Amino acid sequence: MSHVSIRQLLKNFDGKPPTVAVDHLDLEIEDGEFLVLLGPSGCGKTTTLRCLAGLEQPASGSITLGDQLVFDGDRGVNLTPDKRFIGMVFQSYALWPHMTVRKNIAYPLKSRKLTDALNSGRVEETAALVDCERLLDRLPAELSGGQQQRVALARGLVSHPDLVLFDEPLSNLDARLRDQVRAELHDLHQRKPFTAVFVTHDQSEALALGTRMAIMRAGQIVQIGPPREVFEEPVDEYVAGFTGMSNRLPCEYVDGRWYALGAEIFGMQPPAGASVGSFVIRLRPEKVRLVADAADLRHGEAGIAVHVDDVEYGGLHLDVMCSVAVEDSARRQLHARIPTHDSSRAPRTVSRGAAMILAFDPIDGRTFDTDGRALALPQRALTGALAG
Ligand SMILES: Nc1ncnc2c1ncn2[C@@H]1O[C@H](COP(=O)(O)OP(=O)(O)OP(=O)(O)O)[C@@H](O)[C@H]1O
Ligand SMILES: [Mg+2]
Repeated sequence: MSHVSIRQLLKNFDGKPPTVAVDHLDLEIEDGEFLVLLGPSGCGKTTTLRCLAGLEQPASGSITLGDQLVFDGDRGVNLTPDKRFIGMVFQSYALWPHMTVRKNIAYPLKSRKLTDALNSGRVEETAALVDCERLLDRLPAELSGGQQQRVALARGLVSHPDLVLFDEPLSNLDARLRDQVRAELHDLHQRKPFTAVFVTHDQSEALALGTRMAIMRAGQIVQIGPPREVFEEPVDEYVAGFTGMSNRLPCEYVDGRWYALGAEIFGMQPPAGASVGSFVIRLRPEKVRLVADAADLRHGEAGIAVHVDDVEYGGLHLDVMCSVAVEDSARRQLHARIPTHDSSRAPRTVSRGAAMILAFDPIDGRTFDTDGRALALPQRALTGALAG
């Protein structure tokens, strides 16, 4: 395993229109760290991995892997993929169809002439790690999708490379298998740490696996930190939206009352200073309640009148889609996720078409200025709960 250092990496594509896929990206990855890259489609995740692997040539910047400079635009250094000791597990598993599982897994050892590892049972040992030891003599066509995915994992890990790159390696698996392979991967990394960059679209995967998590936008990293920090303290609205704070209330203090989306918010205290007369609050669907009446608001809670547009049963929870009950509003939807058996979070029955109050404690939300940057706002002050 190795420390990885990416400095001012730039990769553009000429196409129509030209694209800056990786935009002067800086990234340091510690030895043994499992770094998760999260970001919307097209933000440059795959291109970053391909530059690390040597499959794309960046325009400028540098990449160091351990003590080896593998790319440097200024010095004209660009090592070919086979000269970089990197394992890759990509979304399309690309197993060799004519080779058995054993030969597929052994391939990186053979091509790097790691004969000691080959002869000491490394292939069998790695296959066992991903629960594939009974499949060694089969061809890829004789495997299920999930089994192929696990073989691809074993192939990426077998040579104990300096760095392992994963590009959405679990996205082709069904939910149960995805959880299983994710747990195996986490356990494996805990037992035998290796340096990894793992791209995913799946937030729960990112939270579960990452030593650190990086959120990308348009070829750059917007926020990087331990998953808990990124999840709980997003630096801006983009990250907040990306990590599940989907309810957005732009609050405005006008003539002594708070409004959001054209409707009044009950229960919020007047702003402490002029600077907080307008801000945006973001709330997770799990952090709001639905009550029948404004009189049902708890001490410290604020509320806004909503119309229930739809209710979906989700087993352990109900997903209630609401919109602000003002006729001329743009019907911005709000989402409440209510535990099915918790009557304190919503009345026993919530039905489509009902008029209700969406209740929230501002301390459970995160606030942002009108440019979308996180505010260090004493949220408690808004509710007056401390004063009360
Ligand atoms: N070979 C190419 N030629 C031209 N443009 C490309 C090429 N490869 C990628 N791009 C562009 O570069 C940008 C980044 O692409 P990339 O594949 O890195 O995105 P991504 O974050 O992996 O997205 P996804 O989540 O959809 O896989 C996109 O705008 C894409 O259209
Ligand atoms: Mg991609």
